[in-house]
Amino acid sequence: MSPTITLALSKGRIFDETLPLLAAAGIEVLEDPEKSRKLILPTNQPDVRVVLVRATDVPTYVEHGGADLGVTGKDTLIEHGGQGLYQPLDLNIARCRVSVAVRADFDYASAVRQGSRLRVATKYTSIARDFFAAKGVHVDLIKLYGSMELAPLTGLADAIVDLVSTGNTLKANQLVEVERIMDISSRLVVNQAALKLKQARLRPLLDAFAKAVTPIPA
Ligand code: PRP
Repeated sequence: MSPTITLALSKGRIFDETLPLLAAAGIEVLEDPEKSRKLILPTNQPDVRVVLVRATDVPTYVEHGGADLGVTGKDTLIEHGGQGLYQPLDLNIARCRVSVAVRADFDYASAVRQGSRLRVATKYTSIARDFFAAKGVHVDLIKLYGSMELAPLTGLADAIVDLVSTGNTLKANQLVEVERIMDISSRLVVNQAALKLKQARLRPLLDAFAKAVTPIPA
């Protein structure tokens, strides 16, 4: 009997955009996570199951072998550190960017030029720290876990570092994007021990995913 393969996914955009890649590998998830409270979802392949975890927990599950592989955003991967993870593939899904945003009435360019100390609220402290350090801008980082857009509106921070996709959330909160830090897409991550021990089952899966990835438009 072949060993069970466990794939960690987070609900929402990553789950939805991973489904076609799974289909290309002959895998169909048999339950809809939006309709079920189950955290372990069966697939049409008796030896493949999907576990639903929070987006930020996907690298941790895969690192420690709670899942053999997973799909996670580049942003989450950078914050996690990526240790113990084999990263074979950019799946080019769930694309967005990490940007700096401020209130429309905040003069970001002058603040940076004058060397003011910026208060920056973010969930992405590693990305923000590295970005501002490279620019030589002094920042006080304020760690938040969500609703970053509120921070400049309430006076908690001068700027935020957050994911931007359509830009609608910024616009709805009278914030403007002033710097684009990096483009984000989701990656496949694989537990290094599983890659060796379950190679016979995992390799064909990785190959099928690789074939099904849509290339980034030029
Ligand atoms: C992300 C991000 C922004 C929003 C940007 O939040 O933090 O709030 O999406 O998308 P937009 O540019 O298309 O408006 P998400 O909904 O992923 O939840 P989060 O607050 O838990 O990060």
